[in-house]
Amino acid sequence: MIRRLSALIVLGALLASQSTFAQAPAVALAQSGLPVGTGIYDKSLDPKVEAVLRKMTLEEKVGQLVQYSAGQPTGPGTGRSDYNEMIARGEIGALFNISTAKETNAYQHIAVEKSRLHIPIIFGLDVIHGFRTEFPIPLGLASTWDPQIVEQAARVAAREAAATGIRWTFSPMVDIARDARWGRMAEGAGEDPFLGSKMAAAYVRGYQGSRLDAPDSIVACAKHYVGYGAAEGGRDYNSTEISEHTLREIYLPPFHAAVNAGSGTIMSAFNSLNGVPASANSFTLTQILRKEWGFRGIVDSDWTSIAEVMAHGIANDGATAARKAFLAGVDMDMASSLYHDHMVKLVKSGQVPMANIDEGVRRVLRVKFALGLFDHPYVDEAKENAAMLQPEAITLARSAAERSFVLLKNEPVGGASVLPLSDKVHNIALIGPLADDSPNMLGSWGGLGRGEDVISLHAALAKHVGEGHLFHVKGSGISDGTDADISAAVEAANKADIVVLALGENAPEMTGEAASRAHPVLPGRQQELLEKIAATGKPVVLVLFSGRPLTLPWAFEKVPAVIAAWFPGIQAGPALVRTLYGESNPSGRLVVSWPRSVGQEPLYYNALSTGRPFGVGEEQKYVSRYLDEPNTPQFPFGFGLSYTTFKYGSTEINSKSLKASQLSSGLNKKAADVLTATAAVTNTGSTAGEEVVQLYIRLEGTSTAQPVRALKGFQRIKLAPGETKNVTFQLAPEAFALWDINNHYTVEPAKATVWISANSATGTGAPLEITP
Ligand code: BGC
Repeated sequence: MIRRLSALIVLGALLASQSTFAQAPAVALAQSGLPVGTGIYDKSLDPKVEAVLRKMTLEEKVGQLVQYSAGQPTGPGTGRSDYNEMIARGEIGALFNISTAKETNAYQHIAVEKSRLHIPIIFGLDVIHGFRTEFPIPLGLASTWDPQIVEQAARVAAREAAATGIRWTFSPMVDIARDARWGRMAEGAGEDPFLGSKMAAAYVRGYQGSRLDAPDSIVACAKHYVGYGAAEGGRDYNSTEISEHTLREIYLPPFHAAVNAGSGTIMSAFNSLNGVPASANSFTLTQILRKEWGFRGIVDSDWTSIAEVMAHGIANDGATAARKAFLAGVDMDMASSLYHDHMVKLVKSGQVPMANIDEGVRRVLRVKFALGLFDHPYVDEAKENAAMLQPEAITLARSAAERSFVLLKNEPVGGASVLPLSDKVHNIALIGPLADDSPNMLGSWGGLGRGEDVISLHAALAKHVGEGHLFHVKGSGISDGTDADISAAVEAANKADIVVLALGENAPEMTGEAASRAHPVLPGRQQELLEKIAATGKPVVLVLFSGRPLTLPWAFEKVPAVIAAWFPGIQAGPALVRTLYGESNPSGRLVVSWPRSVGQEPLYYNALSTGRPFGVGEEQKYVSRYLDEPNTPQFPFGFGLSYTTFKYGSTEINSKSLKASQLSSGLNKKAADVLTATAAVTNTGSTAGEEVVQLYIRLEGTSTAQPVRALKGFQRIKLAPGETKNVTFQLAPEAFALWDINNHYTVEPAKATVWISANSATGTGAPLEITP
């Protein structure tokens, strides 16, 4: 399977800059925002689309709505392999899971030379966090709180994929994830709609570049529309129940941001939403996406999600499933073959109007024209290899990894913090199943990334300290282990000054799709290994590799230093070694609330207050809480330590009151900013560092209850030791907007609070009145 491809070659070294701040390398970026070059909103494409459409037979039209996996299947097979013949007959519009220029060109020659109308195929792939140059998993990329580096990473991925003829990625996944049991949390930007929207737009800009028809641009696909991350119980593919209000406030904004950034395609999700499968849901697909947002691109189904509406129970045969999905707004059928099998008959029998077919075909042709595929259907096979793993891409992968690491704990042992490692550390025991596991560093959906492209923690640390000072013992497997392995690890620990423990999940098996976990803990015997190593009394640095927060209360109590490293990509080792030694100062921040125990899930900071909030008033029995667990997370959203410390001054705002009516009339108009909020942030330590300064708002007294805090701004700043910066946020009317009791987007009179703070659980807010 493409998502699991991995092999071994060695990568040449890279790493130029040894500065404290990883410099973002020179990867040219698009000038953000719509229209994206000659994107799908360019009206000059329409006559070209119409000219082709006029010539098409019904069968050829339906062909454009059909997509198959021609590479390794990533789900239940379609049972088809006669793609060459089908393409020649004009029966296939799109193929995916092909991964070489030779293969894409071969299929394209058939489409362009043998099919009657010469319409090119569009080739897709799950290019999720890199193509060959693998970056941190999306959850890690989001933890950088750095949309620019995400955009640059997506640009690199686009350049590499396009060199292979792949002009369509099924990314970004913009599903809000509030439950760590859900394995696909790894693929997204976490729990917050504001941050999620910024990341969604950054990916789209990066993939699509400044011109979609540039040879190194690929079309984005925001997925999975919509609500997929709210799967009940965190169990993948499960049903979702989301009120229209919460849908609009929480789940839709990142999709809207992707559409506004010009995303040419959207993927409909597997889940049922309020009783109607998302892949046959006309409210979300037609009313919201098409009518309210004006989306002109392709809605592609997820893998067999059209056929799955039968299993959901709203169709008893394939023809009905095809009709329901198509009329609800799904233009293209990924892998289920139901449009191919039934659509012609459905049109001929009058059950599907020809006008709808024409509209679906227009969307597909529009994307193909926007990509320039009619003019340049082939790629130059001779240039394919040179596009991969370019030096600046590798440096960017290291920078992104460094910024994605979240330092969760760093306590003194013998007077000094364990990290960064001091010169006095001569001998290190490197223990754990993930210390030298290159394929796992690629995370789930590792694209064409190969284990041989990865520099593991072991390789990088051995280079840094010299093999003679490194005692490397596995200690256990990820899911298994023996007493002898553990004893060997304890022995190694006893010989060392310090232990670096590399523990965590198996990326392809335990994170990503179909990887929900009811017990998001260290698998196998790793907890036991951790406890035995800690019992040696040696200082321990725990490096956690995971696609979700793991519930590890013991570790957070007993282990002095913990880094959440996610799955960092090909530069895992160098990025970690630079971080361990303080050449890079950790600056990642959590984008998901880190639970103490799974019983707290779903857990998210931007919750509503209850009528009986915990900690308010004297009565503490009849309040909203658990008897056996605090309400608070282990670590809050936005949290992350640094090797230095930051102090926040009070939040100052330039006005004590704003008018709701004025703010409302400025919504959606790029109106002037309405409020300036400032706080002085000081580096109170002795090391330079980067801080992610966050701005939150609460609104009370409104027609619908609003979150106890909602992120409305963030900035990454660099501060030298002792330096103070006044960090200023300019807030637009949208920062105060909400979806009201009638599901209208508006600003209402409210008592507001504005915080500028280091995370979602700290700071003193400034009061603000929003008058009528
Ligand atoms: C996943 C999608 C992916 C598709 C194509 C599905 O199983 O849900 O995210 O894009 O397969 O590989």
